[in-house]
Amino acid sequence: MVGAGAAGLFCAGVAGQRGLKVLVLDHSAKVAEKVRISGGGRANFTNRDIDVRQPHKHFVGANPHFCRSALSRYTAADFIDLVQKHGIPFHEKHKGQLFCDRSAGDLIDMLLAECDAGGVDRRQPCGVQAVRLSADGGYELDTDQGPVQTAKLVIATGGLSIPAIGATDFGFRIARQFGLRTVEPRPGLVPLTFDGAAWAPYADLAGLALPVLIETGDKKNRIVFAEDLLFTHRGLSGPAVLQISSYWQAGTPIRINLAPEVDLPAALTEAKQRSRKLLANELAQWVPARLADAWVAQDPDWQRPVMECSDKALARLAERLARWELVPTGTEGYKKAEVTLGGVDTRDLSQQSMESKQPGLYFIGEVVDVTGWLGGYNFQWAWASAHACAMAL
Ligand code: FDA
Repeated sequence: MVGAGAAGLFCAGVAGQRGLKVLVLDHSAKVAEKVRISGGGRANFTNRDIDVRQPHKHFVGANPHFCRSALSRYTAADFIDLVQKHGIPFHEKHKGQLFCDRSAGDLIDMLLAECDAGGVDRRQPCGVQAVRLSADGGYELDTDQGPVQTAKLVIATGGLSIPAIGATDFGFRIARQFGLRTVEPRPGLVPLTFDGAAWAPYADLAGLALPVLIETGDKKNRIVFAEDLLFTHRGLSGPAVLQISSYWQAGTPIRINLAPEVDLPAALTEAKQRSRKLLANELAQWVPARLADAWVAQDPDWQRPVMECSDKALARLAERLARWELVPTGTEGYKKAEVTLGGVDTRDLSQQSMESKQPGLYFIGEVVDVTGWLGGYNFQWAWASAHACAMAL
C-alpha cells in the first residue's frame, strides 16, 4: 500500500484483519495529515444523507455511477458503527454532516488501532522512487528503505490539494506508467477569484457571509446550491462557492441570488409606497447592511430615498441582486482546494474491487476520478473504496 491517509490506512486495517500481510509506505513523516486538518480539525467523517441509488447527487466525475457499488456495500452507517465501537464522541451539524466532538486525532487513532488489530506494518517517512513489474507478475518497489516485493499494490496517495502537507501526483504517474487513462486533474471545493479591477467594488466586503442560492451551467446542466457565501479579499468562498467550484467550467459564469428568502420586486414596490428611508436602509432588512451599501454605491439612481427611486431603477436593483452574474477569473488553486477533481479514469478500474486493468494494481480514495460534495462525502468515498478493495485483495 502506498499512502497512509484516510483510504490507505482504512484499507490496510481491513485487509490485515482478513489475514493478509500488509505493508504501508508513506513519504511523509506524519500519518494522515489531511485527516488531521479536515473539517476545521474535527473531521467531517461522513454524511447521513447519501442516496446510493442516485450517486450523481453527491459525487462528481466522468462516470458518477461508478462509486455506487462500493458506497452501497460499505455505507455511512457501517462507518458510524466503527466510530461508535471505538467510543469516539461525535455530533451532527448541518445537512447530515457528522463531526468528531473532540478532534480529528480521534479518527486517526481509530485508523491506527484498526491497523494494529490487523498486524499492519508501516514505514514512514519512506519515499518510493520506482515501481516495476517483477518476473512473477507482482511488483517491485525501490524505496528509501530498500526494495519491496509485493504480489498486489494498492495506490492510495490522494490528490494534489495542499502540497504543503505532502500531496503529490504519484498516483497519476503510476497510472500512466501502466497505460491507464487519467482524467485531467483540477482543484475542487476551492474559493473562486476575480479580476482585481472588476472586484474592487466588493473588496471591502471581505469577511461578510450570507445565505444565497448559487448556480452554474446551462439549461441542461444547471446545478444549484443553497448555502452560505463568504466574501474574501480576492473573491468568493464559503460552502456555496466551494460546492459550485466543483462544477464550474473556466470561462463560464456563476449566478448568485443574494436575497433568496424575499420576493424583492414586491418588497421594493411595497417599500416605495410607505417609506421615506434611503433605499440602502430599506435593503438592509433583507441583505446585510454592508452589502446593501456597496450595492447601491454602484448606481446613482439607487442613492436616494426609496420613494424617489423610479420603478425601473428598483426593478433593475431587484434583478441584479437576485441574479448577480459574474465570471470568475480562476480559483485559489491546489493551495486552498479541499479536493482534486479528475484522477485515475474509472473506465480502467473495476467498481467491485478497485483493481485496474493492470492486474494486481489497485487505486482507492481521492486519486480516483470520484469527487464528493462538501459535507463528509469525500471521506465516505475513501472508506467505501478502501473497503471494496480490502475485501477483494
Ligand atoms: P489522503 O490525502 O488522505 O492521503 C494520501 C497519503 O498519501 C498522504 O498521507 C500522503 O502523504 C501520501 N502520499 C502522497 N504522495 C506520496 C508519495 N509520492 N509517496 C508516498 N506517499 C505519498 N473530506 C471530508 O469528507 N470531510 C472533511 O471534513 C474534509 N475536510 C477537508 C479539509 C481540508 C483542508 C482538505 C485539504 C481536505 C478535506 N477533505 C474533507 C477531503 C479529504 O481530506 C480527502 O478527500 C481524503 O483525505 C482523501 O483520502 P485519501 O486517502 O485518498 O488521500
